[in-house]
Amino acid sequence: MNSNKVQFIYENKLIELDNPDPNQTILNFIRDELKKTGTKEGCAEGGCGACTIVLGELENKKIKYKAINSCISFTPTLHGKQLIVVENLVSKNGSYHPVQEAMAKYHASQCGFCTPGFVMSIFAMSKNRKKNNEDDIKDAISGNLCRCTGYRPIIDAAKNIKKTYFDEFYKNSKKTINLLKKIHSKSIIIENKNKKYFAPKTIEELKKVIQKNPDSDFLSGGTDLSLKVTKDRKEIKKIINLNNIKELNFIKIKNNEIIFGSTTPLIEVEKFILKYYPDFNNILRRYGSVQIRNVGTIGGNIATASPIGDTLPLLLSLNAKIIIQTHNGDRQIFLNKFFIKYRKTKLKKGEFIKSIIIPIYKNHNFKAYKISKRFDDDISSVCASFNLKIKDQRIQDVTIAYGGMAEIPKRAKNCENFLKNSKFSEDIFEKAKNLLKKDFNPISDMRASKNYRLEVAENLLIKFFIETKTKKLFRVYQ
Ligand SMILES: Cc1cc2nc3c(=O)[nH]c(=O)nc-3n(C[C@H](O)[C@H](O)[C@H](O)COP(=O)(O)OP(=O)(O)OC[C@H]3O[C@@H](n4cnc5c(N)ncnc54)[C@H](O)[C@@H]3O)c2cc1C
Ligand code: FES
Ligand code: FES
Repeated sequence: MNSNKVQFIYENKLIELDNPDPNQTILNFIRDELKKTGTKEGCAEGGCGACTIVLGELENKKIKYKAINSCISFTPTLHGKQLIVVENLVSKNGSYHPVQEAMAKYHASQCGFCTPGFVMSIFAMSKNRKKNNEDDIKDAISGNLCRCTGYRPIIDAAKNIKKTYFDEFYKNSKKTINLLKKIHSKSIIIENKNKKYFAPKTIEELKKVIQKNPDSDFLSGGTDLSLKVTKDRKEIKKIINLNNIKELNFIKIKNNEIIFGSTTPLIEVEKFILKYYPDFNNILRRYGSVQIRNVGTIGGNIATASPIGDTLPLLLSLNAKIIIQTHNGDRQIFLNKFFIKYRKTKLKKGEFIKSIIIPIYKNHNFKAYKISKRFDDDISSVCASFNLKIKDQRIQDVTIAYGGMAEIPKRAKNCENFLKNSKFSEDIFEKAKNLLKKDFNPISDMRASKNYRLEVAENLLIKFFIETKTKKLFRVYQ
């Protein structure tokens, strides 16, 4: 059974929308239809955080709160969730939420345009954690930009939120949980003028939807797709949302491999992978912002095939494989064989990524580095990833991959071949770095010049050698 109704909870009421516009952003819905204008539009591309809202989702009978960018999420994706906007934080008697109080007390707002976004990011952080250290705070607000106050007073405010919570969502969470449980769990099919939106619940249903609508776009986190609407000003006629399919959102370990379902949000990948590959976690912590990682998915990052997609060099150097659902069943392919040319992959129309398989290397040295103009919330100029096994002071196995150095994320094969079976020594790495010019012929663009990219790539190889040799990390953050 399908439904054309999108249901969600707002102000502790069940809201139902019949056939909402699949291209309408949640931000426009909040401002134009709910008439709540506290949520602002700054960039309309997920980069400034002025539009931050919080969504509540049921997870193991509890509500989990996530800050997201409402400017790049579509209204139908509200289905099954609790929507919280900045106006909802004020209590019924008109007193401010402790986060708002702290922002005022610590002079954390001047023009005020960014303030609702900061308040919502800090609110979400405080809801999910009892205690926040400075790193947590910086992470939580890494996707919020302020151009007049400066960040120090905002961090001070976040550190000094009164612990006596009086927010209604906390008190009413039982009621909210009950309301969330009442939301229908049917697959959704929306038709709005010339646009269609599908949110199937199973892979079997998904296959049928694809068969009838082969010209659709898949939607995972939407952190890339939605920009077609908000930046390119184009319509997306048919959207298939993959996020309601539980079979695509999982994490497991099998046969010494980590397997991520393709719609696993990057924030979950970040937490899980820490134990196995701390540098994978480090790179993900610098991926966009919490808002972006709360929705953006590992499968979406791979399918986007951007030469500067941050997970891609890491996955390449870890010899990751992906499972693709083709028209004739599942197909397993090494990621190394997946990218064809600039943003082109082996995926044919209607095929989708089901899962990502990452081997667990126990005795290898794995390190990754991201070079960008800003530390947080910025795209890589160069991203490098190294996976090396040393035995008896010789390099037994080595896989090196770079992003930002070619039209696709790519392995450094000449460099790898030279290093393999060589001595693990400085002079060998000094020679190997010269081979990167053979492996890559990068372009100059607004992020970096060709020469800068090549020099950074070489330096990162040497940095990897030094960090591995000395067993010390030379990082801004560790
Ligand atoms: C503010 C901002 C900051 C960003 N920062 C970074 C960053 O630091 N590093 C970085 O690498 N990227 C960054 N990005 C880019 C973006 O996050 C990635 O492209 C993202 O990984 C896309 O994933 P998604 O789940 O949001 O995909 P979506 O936008 O939902 O989809 C992207 C594309 O992949 C297709 N697709 C999605 N899932 C599948 C699937 N399972 N099978 C087949 N096709 C699929 C869609 O149809 C679409 O064409 C940023 C984006 C924004 C807006
Ligand atoms: S308006 Fe800038 S992140 Fe949404
Ligand atoms: S207070 Fe003006 S942009 Fe932050």
